[in-house]
Amino acid sequence: MSNIVVFGSQWGDEGKGKIVDMLAQESAAIVRFQGGNNAGHTLVVAGEKCILHLIPSGILHPGKVCLIGNGVVLDPEVFLHEIDKLAAKGVDVSPARLMISKKTHVILSYHRALDVAREALRSGGTKIGTTGRGIGPCYEDKMHRCGIRAGDLANPELLREKIARALEEKNVLFKGLYGCEVMDAEQIYRELLPIAERIRPYLGDVSSAIQAATAGGGTVLFEGAQGTHLDIDHGTYPFVTSSTTVSGNAASGSGCSPRMLERIIAIVKAYTTRVGGGPFPTELFDATGDYLQEKGGEFGATTGRKRRCGWLDMVVLRESARLNGPTELAVTKLDVLSGLKELKICVAYEYQGQTVQYPPQEENGMAFVTPVYETLPGWEEDITACTSFADLPENARKYLVRMEQLSGVPIGLVSVGPDRAQTFGRG
Ligand code: GDP
Ligand code: IMO
Ligand code: MG
Repeated sequence: MSNIVVFGSQWGDEGKGKIVDMLAQESAAIVRFQGGNNAGHTLVVAGEKCILHLIPSGILHPGKVCLIGNGVVLDPEVFLHEIDKLAAKGVDVSPARLMISKKTHVILSYHRALDVAREALRSGGTKIGTTGRGIGPCYEDKMHRCGIRAGDLANPELLREKIARALEEKNVLFKGLYGCEVMDAEQIYRELLPIAERIRPYLGDVSSAIQAATAGGGTVLFEGAQGTHLDIDHGTYPFVTSSTTVSGNAASGSGCSPRMLERIIAIVKAYTTRVGGGPFPTELFDATGDYLQEKGGEFGATTGRKRRCGWLDMVVLRESARLNGPTELAVTKLDVLSGLKELKICVAYEYQGQTVQYPPQEENGMAFVTPVYETLPGWEEDITACTSFADLPENARKYLVRMEQLSGVPIGLVSVGPDRAQTFGRG
Protein backbone atom coordinates (compact mmCIF):
# COMPACT_ATOMS: atom_id res chain seq x y z
CA MET A 1 0.00 0.00 0.00
CA SER A 2 1.02 3.62 -0.59
CA ASN A 3 0.09 6.77 1.25
CA ILE A 4 -3.17 8.06 -0.19
CA VAL A 5 -4.79 11.47 -0.55
CA VAL A 6 -8.55 11.51 -1.07
CA PHE A 7 -9.98 14.80 -2.33
CA GLY A 8 -13.30 16.08 -3.65
CA SER A 9 -13.14 17.01 -7.33
CA GLN A 10 -16.40 18.98 -7.59
CA TRP A 11 -18.24 21.15 -5.02
CA GLY A 12 -18.08 18.72 -2.09
CA ASP A 13 -20.28 15.81 -1.02
CA GLU A 14 -18.83 13.51 -3.66
CA GLY A 15 -18.73 10.57 -1.25
CA LYS A 16 -15.27 11.13 0.24
CA GLY A 17 -16.31 9.73 3.64
CA LYS A 18 -17.45 6.44 2.18
CA ILE A 19 -14.25 5.92 0.20
CA VAL A 20 -12.00 6.96 3.10
CA ASP A 21 -13.82 4.53 5.40
CA MET A 22 -13.29 1.80 2.86
CA LEU A 23 -9.58 2.55 2.34
CA ALA A 24 -8.90 3.04 6.06
CA GLN A 25 -8.83 -0.71 6.48
CA GLU A 26 -5.38 -0.77 4.83
CA SER A 27 -3.95 2.36 6.47
CA ALA A 28 -2.18 2.88 9.77
CA ALA A 29 -3.35 6.47 10.24
CA ILE A 30 -6.10 8.67 8.78
CA VAL A 31 -5.61 12.45 8.81
CA ARG A 32 -7.96 15.41 8.24
CA PHE A 33 -5.87 18.31 6.91
CA GLN A 34 -8.26 21.19 6.21
CA GLY A 35 -11.79 22.47 6.73
CA GLY A 36 -13.79 21.94 9.87
CA ASN A 37 -17.28 20.92 10.80
CA ASN A 38 -18.62 22.49 7.63
CA ALA A 39 -17.84 19.00 6.32
CA GLY A 40 -20.34 16.18 6.61
CA HIS A 41 -18.89 12.80 5.67
CA THR A 42 -21.34 9.90 5.59
CA LEU A 43 -20.31 6.32 6.31
CA VAL A 44 -22.68 3.39 5.95
CA VAL A 45 -21.55 0.07 7.36
CA ALA A 46 -23.90 -2.91 7.18
CA GLY A 47 -26.84 -0.53 6.75
CA GLU A 48 -25.93 1.68 9.71
CA LYS A 49 -25.33 5.35 8.91
CA CYS A 50 -22.78 7.54 10.67
CA ILE A 51 -22.12 11.19 9.77
CA LEU A 52 -18.76 12.65 10.77
CA HIS A 53 -17.95 16.35 10.74
CA LEU A 54 -14.53 16.55 12.35
CA ILE A 55 -13.31 13.09 13.27
CA PRO A 56 -11.46 11.34 10.43
CA SER A 57 -13.54 8.76 8.59
CA GLY A 58 -11.26 5.92 9.71
CA ILE A 59 -12.60 5.97 13.26
CA LEU A 60 -14.92 2.98 12.77
CA HIS A 61 -11.93 0.70 12.16
CA PRO A 62 -10.61 -0.39 15.56
CA GLY A 63 -7.00 0.41 16.21
CA LYS A 64 -6.51 2.90 13.38
CA VAL A 65 -4.92 6.17 14.46
CA CYS A 66 -7.04 9.23 13.63
CA LEU A 67 -5.34 12.61 13.42
CA ILE A 68 -6.66 16.16 13.11
CA GLY A 69 -4.00 18.24 11.41
CA ASN A 70 -2.90 21.84 11.79
CA GLY A 71 -4.80 22.88 8.65
CA VAL A 72 -8.17 22.08 10.23
CA VAL A 73 -10.29 24.55 12.18
CA LEU A 74 -11.75 22.77 15.18
CA ASP A 75 -14.88 23.65 17.13
CA PRO A 76 -14.13 22.04 20.51
CA GLU A 77 -17.81 21.68 21.43
CA VAL A 78 -18.55 19.87 18.18
CA PHE A 79 -15.52 17.66 18.67
CA LEU A 80 -16.69 16.59 22.13
CA HIS A 81 -20.25 16.06 20.95
CA GLU A 82 -18.97 13.89 18.10
CA ILE A 83 -16.73 11.74 20.31
CA ASP A 84 -19.54 11.32 22.84
CA LYS A 85 -21.88 10.07 20.14
CA LEU A 86 -19.27 7.64 18.85
CA ALA A 87 -18.41 6.42 22.35
CA ALA A 88 -22.12 5.75 22.99
CA LYS A 89 -22.02 3.42 19.99
CA GLY A 90 -19.04 1.59 21.46
CA VAL A 91 -16.38 3.19 19.24
CA ASP A 92 -12.99 3.71 20.89
CA VAL A 93 -12.34 7.47 20.85
CA SER A 94 -9.61 7.49 23.48
CA PRO A 95 -6.56 9.74 23.12
CA ALA A 96 -4.58 6.57 22.47
CA ARG A 97 -5.87 6.65 18.90
CA LEU A 98 -7.25 10.16 18.36
CA MET A 99 -5.09 13.28 18.31
CA ILE A 100 -5.54 16.99 17.60
CA SER A 101 -2.51 18.99 16.50
CA LYS A 102 -1.57 21.71 18.98
CA LYS A 103 -1.35 23.99 15.94
CA THR A 104 -4.97 23.49 14.89
CA HIS A 105 -6.99 26.69 15.13
CA VAL A 106 -10.05 26.74 17.35
CA ILE A 107 -13.54 27.97 16.47
CA LEU A 108 -15.29 29.83 19.30
CA SER A 109 -18.77 31.30 19.64
CA TYR A 110 -17.73 34.70 18.27
CA HIS A 111 -16.58 33.06 15.02
CA ARG A 112 -19.95 31.42 14.60
CA ALA A 113 -21.73 34.69 15.40
CA LEU A 114 -19.60 36.62 12.88
CA ASP A 115 -20.23 34.02 10.18
CA VAL A 116 -24.00 34.30 10.67
CA ALA A 117 -23.96 38.13 10.96
CA ARG A 118 -21.92 38.55 7.77
CA GLU A 119 -24.17 36.20 5.83
CA ALA A 120 -27.27 38.05 7.10
CA LEU A 121 -25.90 41.33 5.72
CA ARG A 122 -25.35 39.88 2.26
CA SER A 123 -28.38 40.04 0.02
CA GLY A 124 -29.83 37.88 -2.77
CA GLY A 125 -27.22 36.60 -5.20
CA THR A 126 -24.30 37.75 -3.07
CA LYS A 127 -25.08 35.30 -0.27
CA ILE A 128 -22.42 32.59 -0.07
CA GLY A 129 -24.73 30.26 1.79
CA THR A 130 -22.06 29.31 4.34
CA THR A 131 -22.74 26.53 6.79
CA GLY A 132 -22.74 29.11 9.60
CA ARG A 133 -20.19 27.10 11.54
CA GLY A 134 -17.67 29.94 11.93
CA ILE A 135 -15.21 28.48 9.43
CA GLY A 136 -14.39 31.70 7.54
CA PRO A 137 -13.95 33.93 10.62
CA CYS A 138 -11.67 31.34 12.27
CA TYR A 139 -9.41 31.11 9.20
CA GLU A 140 -9.44 34.94 9.06
CA ASP A 141 -8.09 35.10 12.62
CA LYS A 142 -5.43 32.55 11.74
CA MET A 143 -4.22 34.70 8.84
CA HIS A 144 -4.61 37.87 10.89
CA ARG A 145 -2.36 36.17 13.47
CA CYS A 146 -4.76 36.59 16.35
CA GLY A 147 -6.20 33.07 16.31
CA ILE A 148 -6.49 30.68 19.22
CA ARG A 149 -4.77 27.36 18.68
CA ALA A 150 -5.69 24.05 20.23
CA GLY A 151 -2.42 24.08 22.19
CA ASP A 152 -3.61 27.27 23.93
CA LEU A 153 -6.38 25.24 25.54
CA ALA A 154 -3.71 23.86 27.86
CA ASN A 155 -2.67 27.36 28.95
CA PRO A 156 -5.59 29.08 30.72
CA GLU A 157 -3.83 32.43 31.23
CA LEU A 158 -2.87 32.73 27.57
CA LEU A 159 -6.36 31.63 26.59
CA ARG A 160 -8.00 34.32 28.73
CA GLU A 161 -5.71 37.00 27.33
CA LYS A 162 -6.22 35.95 23.72
CA ILE A 163 -10.01 35.79 23.99
CA ALA A 164 -10.07 39.25 25.59
CA ARG A 165 -7.87 40.65 22.83
CA ALA A 166 -9.92 39.05 20.06
CA LEU A 167 -13.16 40.39 21.47
CA GLU A 168 -11.90 43.94 21.75
CA GLU A 169 -11.99 44.03 17.97
CA LYS A 170 -14.95 41.73 17.33
CA ASN A 171 -17.22 43.63 19.70
CA VAL A 172 -16.64 46.83 17.73
CA LEU A 173 -17.92 44.97 14.68
CA PHE A 174 -20.83 43.33 16.52
CA LYS A 175 -22.02 46.62 17.95
CA GLY A 176 -21.19 49.08 15.21
CA LEU A 177 -21.53 47.19 11.97
CA TYR A 178 -23.71 44.18 12.57
CA GLY A 179 -26.01 45.69 15.18
CA CYS A 180 -25.93 42.65 17.44
CA GLU A 181 -25.14 41.98 21.08
CA VAL A 182 -21.55 42.36 22.21
CA MET A 183 -19.93 39.28 23.76
CA ASP A 184 -18.41 38.91 27.20
CA ALA A 185 -14.82 37.66 26.99
CA GLU A 186 -14.74 36.49 30.59
CA GLN A 187 -17.91 34.45 30.16
CA ILE A 188 -16.59 32.80 26.98
CA TYR A 189 -13.36 32.00 28.80
CA ARG A 190 -15.15 30.52 31.82
CA GLU A 191 -17.43 28.38 29.67
CA LEU A 192 -14.45 27.17 27.69
CA LEU A 193 -12.46 25.97 30.69
CA PRO A 194 -14.27 22.63 31.26
CA ILE A 195 -14.28 22.02 27.51
CA ALA A 196 -10.54 22.74 27.33
CA GLU A 197 -10.02 20.33 30.19
CA ARG A 198 -11.60 17.51 28.19
CA ILE A 199 -9.74 18.41 24.99
CA ARG A 200 -6.30 18.55 26.62
CA PRO A 201 -5.53 14.78 26.56
CA TYR A 202 -6.11 14.80 22.78
CA LEU A 203 -3.50 17.46 22.04
CA GLY A 204 -0.36 16.25 20.41
CA ASP A 205 2.26 16.50 17.70
CA VAL A 206 0.57 15.27 14.52
CA SER A 207 3.75 15.56 12.42
CA SER A 208 5.48 13.12 14.76
CA ALA A 209 2.46 10.81 14.80
CA ILE A 210 2.55 10.64 10.98
CA GLN A 211 6.27 9.98 11.10
CA ALA A 212 5.74 7.22 13.66
CA ALA A 213 2.96 5.59 11.63
CA THR A 214 5.15 5.37 8.53
CA ALA A 215 8.34 4.45 10.36
CA GLY A 216 6.67 1.19 11.35
CA GLY A 217 5.95 0.44 7.67
CA GLY A 218 2.35 1.68 7.79
CA THR A 219 0.70 4.03 5.35
CA VAL A 220 -1.20 7.25 5.89
CA LEU A 221 -4.55 8.19 4.40
CA PHE A 222 -5.15 11.92 4.02
CA GLU A 223 -8.85 12.82 4.04
CA GLY A 224 -9.81 15.97 2.17
CA ALA A 225 -12.97 17.90 2.92
CA GLN A 226 -15.11 20.08 0.62
CA GLY A 227 -14.09 20.03 -3.04
CA THR A 228 -11.66 21.59 -5.50
CA HIS A 229 -14.18 24.14 -6.78
CA LEU A 230 -14.74 25.35 -3.21
CA ASP A 231 -11.00 26.00 -2.82
CA ILE A 232 -10.21 29.51 -1.57
CA ASP A 233 -7.85 30.17 -4.52
CA HIS A 234 -8.97 27.89 -7.31
CA GLY A 235 -12.69 27.59 -6.64
CA THR A 236 -15.57 29.75 -7.81
CA TYR A 237 -14.46 32.71 -5.70
CA PRO A 238 -16.10 34.34 -3.76
CA PHE A 239 -18.54 31.41 -3.54
CA VAL A 240 -16.00 29.15 -1.88
CA THR A 241 -14.95 27.95 1.54
CA SER A 242 -12.00 29.48 3.38
CA SER A 243 -9.43 26.70 3.11
CA THR A 244 -7.16 25.15 0.52
CA THR A 245 -8.95 22.02 -0.56
CA VAL A 246 -6.56 20.72 -3.21
CA SER A 247 -4.40 17.64 -2.71
CA GLY A 248 -1.15 19.57 -2.25
CA ASN A 249 -2.43 20.91 1.05
CA ALA A 250 -2.47 17.40 2.49
CA ALA A 251 1.22 17.87 3.27
CA SER A 252 1.13 21.41 4.64
CA GLY A 253 -2.17 20.91 6.46
CA SER A 254 -0.95 17.87 8.35
CA GLY A 255 2.75 18.56 8.77
CA CYS A 256 4.59 16.21 6.43
CA SER A 257 6.58 16.39 3.23
CA PRO A 258 4.80 16.51 -0.16
CA ARG A 259 7.03 13.59 -1.12
CA MET A 260 4.83 11.46 1.11
CA LEU A 261 1.79 11.97 -1.12
CA GLU A 262 1.78 8.99 -3.47
CA ARG A 263 -1.63 7.74 -4.58
CA ILE A 264 -4.00 10.65 -5.18
CA ILE A 265 -7.65 9.72 -5.55
CA ALA A 266 -10.18 12.14 -7.02
CA ILE A 267 -13.66 11.42 -5.73
CA VAL A 268 -16.13 12.16 -8.52
CA LYS A 269 -19.87 11.96 -8.18
CA ALA A 270 -21.30 10.52 -11.42
CA TYR A 271 -23.29 13.77 -11.75
CA THR A 272 -22.78 17.15 -10.07
CA THR A 273 -24.21 18.71 -6.92
CA ARG A 274 -23.65 21.95 -5.10
CA VAL A 275 -25.03 23.28 -1.84
CA GLY A 276 -25.07 27.00 -1.11
CA GLY A 277 -24.68 29.91 -3.53
CA GLY A 278 -22.48 30.35 -6.61
CA PRO A 279 -22.34 29.45 -10.27
CA PHE A 280 -23.16 25.93 -11.43
CA PRO A 281 -23.12 25.70 -15.24
CA THR A 282 -24.72 22.25 -15.61
CA GLU A 283 -27.43 22.79 -12.97
CA LEU A 284 -30.81 21.29 -13.89
CA PHE A 285 -34.05 23.06 -13.03
CA ASP A 286 -36.29 20.39 -14.54
CA ALA A 287 -37.67 16.95 -13.71
CA THR A 288 -34.23 15.34 -14.25
CA GLY A 289 -32.76 17.63 -11.59
CA ASP A 290 -35.56 16.62 -9.22
CA TYR A 291 -34.95 12.96 -10.09
CA LEU A 292 -31.26 13.20 -9.16
CA GLN A 293 -32.04 15.14 -6.00
CA GLU A 294 -34.63 12.63 -4.81
CA LYS A 295 -33.00 9.41 -5.97
CA GLY A 296 -29.59 10.55 -4.79
CA GLY A 297 -30.98 11.68 -1.41
CA GLU A 298 -29.22 14.97 -2.07
CA PHE A 299 -29.64 16.79 1.21
CA GLY A 300 -26.64 18.38 2.94
CA ALA A 301 -25.12 16.12 5.60
CA THR A 302 -24.27 19.19 7.71
CA THR A 303 -27.10 21.69 7.22
CA GLY A 304 -29.86 19.49 5.77
CA ARG A 305 -30.26 21.91 2.83
CA LYS A 306 -31.39 20.54 -0.53
CA ARG A 307 -28.41 20.11 -2.82
CA ARG A 308 -28.64 21.63 -6.29
CA CYS A 309 -28.18 18.91 -8.95
CA GLY A 310 -26.92 18.82 -12.53
CA TRP A 311 -25.08 16.85 -15.20
CA LEU A 312 -21.49 15.70 -14.93
CA ASP A 313 -19.15 18.56 -15.85
CA MET A 314 -15.84 17.53 -17.38
CA VAL A 315 -14.54 21.11 -17.42
CA VAL A 316 -14.80 21.02 -13.65
CA LEU A 317 -13.11 17.62 -13.57
CA ARG A 318 -10.38 18.61 -16.02
CA GLU A 319 -9.50 21.56 -13.82
CA SER A 320 -9.47 19.28 -10.78
CA ALA A 321 -7.13 16.89 -12.59
CA ARG A 322 -4.73 19.69 -13.43
CA LEU A 323 -4.73 21.11 -9.90
CA ASN A 324 -4.58 17.87 -7.91
CA GLY A 325 -2.72 15.40 -10.13
CA PRO A 326 -4.95 12.40 -9.41
CA THR A 327 -3.52 8.98 -10.09
CA GLU A 328 -7.07 7.63 -10.34
CA LEU A 329 -10.76 8.50 -10.10
CA ALA A 330 -13.22 6.95 -7.66
CA VAL A 331 -16.65 7.37 -9.23
CA THR A 332 -19.54 7.40 -6.77
CA LYS A 333 -23.33 7.29 -7.02
CA LEU A 334 -23.35 5.68 -10.45
CA ASP A 335 -26.48 3.82 -9.30
CA VAL A 336 -28.40 7.10 -9.07
CA LEU A 337 -28.23 7.48 -12.88
CA SER A 338 -30.08 4.19 -13.50
CA GLY A 339 -33.44 4.79 -15.15
CA LEU A 340 -32.51 7.90 -17.11
CA LYS A 341 -32.97 7.43 -20.90
CA GLU A 342 -30.15 9.74 -21.84
CA LEU A 343 -27.19 11.15 -19.95
CA LYS A 344 -25.45 14.38 -20.76
CA ILE A 345 -21.82 15.16 -20.10
CA CYS A 346 -20.55 18.73 -20.35
CA VAL A 347 -17.34 18.52 -22.38
CA ALA A 348 -16.49 22.23 -22.76
CA TYR A 349 -17.89 25.72 -22.17
CA GLU A 350 -18.77 28.52 -24.56
CA TYR A 351 -17.33 31.67 -22.99
CA GLN A 352 -17.07 35.11 -24.55
CA GLY A 353 -17.51 33.67 -28.05
CA GLN A 354 -14.92 30.93 -27.62
CA THR A 355 -14.97 27.25 -26.72
CA VAL A 356 -12.92 26.73 -23.55
CA GLN A 357 -11.66 23.55 -21.87
CA TYR A 358 -11.02 25.05 -18.42
CA PRO A 359 -13.06 27.35 -16.17
CA PRO A 360 -12.57 31.09 -16.84
CA GLN A 361 -10.11 32.76 -14.48
CA GLU A 362 -12.15 35.94 -14.04
CA GLU A 363 -14.14 36.33 -10.84
CA ASN A 364 -17.51 34.65 -11.21
CA GLY A 365 -16.66 33.83 -14.85
CA MET A 366 -18.38 30.48 -14.47
CA ALA A 367 -21.69 32.31 -14.13
CA PHE A 368 -21.36 33.41 -17.76
CA VAL A 369 -20.52 30.15 -19.54
CA THR A 370 -22.79 27.94 -21.64
CA PRO A 371 -22.10 24.21 -21.33
CA VAL A 372 -21.39 22.20 -24.48
CA TYR A 373 -22.94 18.76 -24.06
CA GLU A 374 -22.36 15.31 -25.41
CA THR A 375 -25.26 12.84 -25.03
CA LEU A 376 -24.84 9.20 -24.10
CA PRO A 377 -27.49 6.49 -23.83
CA GLY A 378 -28.61 5.61 -20.31
CA TRP A 379 -29.47 2.24 -18.75
CA GLU A 380 -32.54 0.90 -16.96
CA GLU A 381 -31.04 -1.75 -14.69
CA ASP A 382 -30.63 -1.39 -10.94
CA ILE A 383 -26.86 -1.70 -10.47
CA THR A 384 -26.69 -1.55 -6.67
CA ALA A 385 -25.88 -5.27 -6.42
CA CYS A 386 -23.14 -5.22 -9.07
CA THR A 387 -19.80 -6.38 -7.71
CA SER A 388 -17.50 -5.77 -10.67
CA PHE A 389 -17.00 -3.51 -13.66
CA ALA A 390 -17.93 -6.41 -15.93
CA ASP A 391 -21.26 -6.77 -14.08
CA LEU A 392 -22.37 -3.28 -15.11
CA PRO A 393 -24.73 -2.74 -18.06
CA GLU A 394 -22.91 -1.88 -21.27
CA ASN A 395 -24.07 1.74 -21.28
CA ALA A 396 -22.87 2.25 -17.70
CA ARG A 397 -19.46 0.95 -18.70
CA LYS A 398 -19.45 3.27 -21.73
CA TYR A 399 -20.28 6.23 -19.49
CA LEU A 400 -17.32 5.41 -17.23
CA VAL A 401 -14.95 4.86 -20.14
CA ARG A 402 -15.98 8.24 -21.57
CA MET A 403 -15.14 9.85 -18.22
CA GLU A 404 -11.69 8.32 -18.38
CA GLN A 405 -11.16 9.53 -21.96
CA LEU A 406 -12.34 13.05 -21.26
CA SER A 407 -10.39 13.46 -18.01
CA GLY A 408 -7.28 11.56 -19.03
CA VAL A 409 -7.33 9.82 -15.64
CA PRO A 410 -8.02 6.10 -15.13
CA ILE A 411 -10.86 4.98 -12.89
CA GLY A 412 -9.70 2.98 -9.87
CA LEU A 413 -12.92 2.52 -7.91
CA VAL A 414 -16.64 2.50 -8.67
CA SER A 415 -19.31 2.95 -6.02
CA VAL A 416 -22.87 1.78 -6.64
CA GLY A 417 -24.50 2.38 -3.25
CA PRO A 418 -23.86 4.08 0.09
CA ASP A 419 -22.67 0.97 1.91
CA ARG A 420 -18.98 0.27 2.43
CA ALA A 421 -19.49 -3.02 0.62
CA GLN A 422 -21.03 -1.48 -2.52
CA THR A 423 -17.70 -0.66 -4.10
CA PHE A 424 -15.46 -2.43 -6.61
CA GLY A 425 -12.32 -1.87 -8.63
CA ARG A 426 -12.17 -0.98 -12.31
CA GLY A 427 -10.80 -4.43 -13.10
P1 GDP B 1 -18.72 13.60 1.42
O1 GDP B 1 -18.94 14.91 2.07
O2 GDP B 1 -17.91 13.70 0.18
O3 GDP B 1 -18.19 12.55 2.35
O4 GDP B 1 -20.16 13.09 0.94
P2 GDP B 1 -21.52 13.14 1.79
O5 GDP B 1 -21.48 12.08 2.82
O6 GDP B 1 -21.82 14.52 2.22
O7 GDP B 1 -22.58 12.82 0.66
C1 GDP B 1 -22.53 11.65 -0.08
C2 GDP B 1 -23.85 10.90 0.11
O8 GDP B 1 -23.97 9.90 -0.86
C3 GDP B 1 -23.97 10.21 1.45
O9 GDP B 1 -25.32 10.18 1.83
C4 GDP B 1 -23.47 8.80 1.14
O10 GDP B 1 -23.99 7.83 2.03
C5 GDP B 1 -24.02 8.62 -0.24
N1 GDP B 1 -23.25 7.75 -1.13
C6 GDP B 1 -21.89 7.60 -1.25
N2 GDP B 1 -21.59 6.78 -2.28
C7 GDP B 1 -22.77 6.40 -2.81
C8 GDP B 1 -23.12 5.59 -3.94
O11 GDP B 1 -22.29 5.06 -4.66
N3 GDP B 1 -24.45 5.46 -4.22
C9 GDP B 1 -25.42 6.06 -3.46
N4 GDP B 1 -26.69 5.88 -3.80
N5 GDP B 1 -25.12 6.82 -2.41
C10 GDP B 1 -23.81 7.01 -2.10
P1 IMO C 1 -17.89 18.09 2.54
O1 IMO C 1 -16.55 17.83 3.16
C1 IMO C 1 -20.46 20.79 0.29
C2 IMO C 1 -20.00 25.09 1.09
C3 IMO C 1 -21.14 25.81 1.79
C4 IMO C 1 -21.02 27.18 1.17
C5 IMO C 1 -19.50 27.35 1.05
C6 IMO C 1 -18.88 28.16 2.17
O2 IMO C 1 -19.02 17.43 3.24
O3 IMO C 1 -17.85 17.80 1.07
P2 IMO C 1 -18.35 27.59 4.71
O4 IMO C 1 -19.26 27.24 5.85
O5 IMO C 1 -17.33 26.56 4.41
O6 IMO C 1 -17.75 28.98 4.85
O7 IMO C 1 -19.32 27.68 3.43
O8 IMO C 1 -18.95 26.05 1.04
N1 IMO C 1 -19.47 23.89 1.80
C7 IMO C 1 -19.70 22.64 1.42
N2 IMO C 1 -20.47 22.14 0.42
N3 IMO C 1 -19.74 19.96 1.06
C8 IMO C 1 -18.95 20.45 2.05
O9 IMO C 1 -18.13 19.66 2.76
C9 IMO C 1 -18.94 21.84 2.29
N4 IMO C 1 -18.31 22.64 3.18
C10 IMO C 1 -18.64 23.89 2.86
O10 IMO C 1 -22.38 25.20 1.49
O11 IMO C 1 -21.55 27.17 -0.13
MG1 MG D 1 -20.51 16.10 2.74
